[in-house]
Amino acid sequence: MAFNATVTINEVPVTIFRKLYEIESRPLGVAILVLFAVTYASFVLTKSSPEAKVPFVGLELGSLSKRKKKYVTDANALLKEGIVAGQRFYTELCDFKDDELSFKGSISDLFATHYTGVLISDDLKELAINRDLTPGMARLTETLEDEVNYIVGKEIGSCKEWKAVIMNKATQNIIASVTARSFVGMDLCRDPDWLRISVDYWMDAFAAAKSIKFWPVFLRPIAARLMPQPARMHATRQEAQRLVVPVLKKRLDAMQNDPDYQKPDDIMQWMIDRLGDKAGTDEELHHQAHLQLALAMGAIHSTNFTLLHEMFDLAAYPEYHEPLREEYREALKSTGGILTKVTLNKLLMLDSFMKESQRYNPPGLTNGRRKTLKDLVLSNGTVIPTGSNIELPAGAVNADPSIYPHADEFDGFRFYKLRKRSEDDMNKHQFVTSSRDSLNWGYGRHACPGRFFAVDEIKVILSKILQSYDLALVDPAAGRYKNSSFETMVIPDMEKAVMFRERAV
Ligand code: HEM
Repeated sequence: MAFNATVTINEVPVTIFRKLYEIESRPLGVAILVLFAVTYASFVLTKSSPEAKVPFVGLELGSLSKRKKKYVTDANALLKEGIVAGQRFYTELCDFKDDELSFKGSISDLFATHYTGVLISDDLKELAINRDLTPGMARLTETLEDEVNYIVGKEIGSCKEWKAVIMNKATQNIIASVTARSFVGMDLCRDPDWLRISVDYWMDAFAAAKSIKFWPVFLRPIAARLMPQPARMHATRQEAQRLVVPVLKKRLDAMQNDPDYQKPDDIMQWMIDRLGDKAGTDEELHHQAHLQLALAMGAIHSTNFTLLHEMFDLAAYPEYHEPLREEYREALKSTGGILTKVTLNKLLMLDSFMKESQRYNPPGLTNGRRKTLKDLVLSNGTVIPTGSNIELPAGAVNADPSIYPHADEFDGFRFYKLRKRSEDDMNKHQFVTSSRDSLNWGYGRHACPGRFFAVDEIKVILSKILQSYDLALVDPAAGRYKNSSFETMVIPDMEKAVMFRERAV
């Protein structure tokens, strides 16, 4: 196992990517270089940096466009071949400081933030997640449940007989609403305009970044002003201002003038409280609106794909339904019939099923993207030149039989059995755990901070669905819907339906 390095675009819906790839495949469109092994664009192009003493893969394929095509269509094969350093280096890589190995730098490249205006790192956003959202999860469970009841009822609805539901459409709406309830509260979580832009901003960001990178570096400042995609991002930010700023003002006014005002318990309010007197200035009002878009961008699609995979797995493996329902009933009973954070913590089988689903269907074959801001030397002497983009091989780790015996078998209770072994194992194999053996949340100090929220959110959704419905694939004999891939992305089939039928309570 090892880290791998590519200059690549990740985590984008395949429809967008396909469209963009067509543009990129034209002779002029060689703006995004996809190189293999530990490498980076400027080193290869200019030879201005010390040589990375590692083999390259894919060179035998010939031209850059042929290598790009292989990467786009079969990155897995290249990644397997291109592994160059072992797991022990992950920890070593984590020890480099942010000014040596930068998360922000790589994401900035990915989204061409200089031109698209995507906000990737912000103290207020980070405080809101790490200091407010994660520790607040116990208080938020009731709110999550309330919104899940509403939106699952709306998206799946009543069905005395079996009915087919296009799953991605439903899960996307479910996640957008439930997330918005905790982020922007009742004021906006059912507002169709907010839900639309909070879902679309992510796709728009990729499209805008890609359109900019189509151009040579020296033309990008001009292209950014002329291309429609960056303009669309700007328009979406304006729309966010239109929607969010009046809500902020209403809250600030109530805080000042209404002695009975009950502050909502959501990210919007925590940000207002953290900003104190500054919260109402024009600059901060606009900043908060922008932050809400940035948060939605990080939270919605990743969680939706995770839930979608899990729904497909639940539909494909009905043998898990009853044990999971029974576990929920028992956990709920133990917390007096009220769904709390403690109830969710007792759902060890569900946690295991979700983790196995992610092991089988990771968000990406690679993860933990970082950019070197200095030449870095690993303990085995490997030099990673300045400007390299590094990624960890999450997919290869997930499929490694020395880590996961019978790795090619879906065992929904794999992690449940591991957790039952000892106290230490109980923590080591939780769904939220990020480790060298489980890289799907990233690794190190930038591992996903939103995972605690995402896991609880999905647990409430799946529990509600399992209690309320029987579910199945449209054609059970055909087996679980296949994923597709684009570059290192693993993409669930967004067109497929799951069958639902209400259960007698
Ligand atoms: C199942 C859903 C999710 C998945 C699979 C996921 C996955 C990831 C991954 C792989 C990373 C990169 C970590 C690294 O490079 O080491 C990341 C970063 C991040 N995620 Fe998530 N994420 C999810 C949900 C969320 C949610 C709900 C939020 C917000 C509440 C969120 C906020 C963030 C932020 C802010 C970062 C950047 C961290 C930093 O700057 O240090 N994510 N996520």
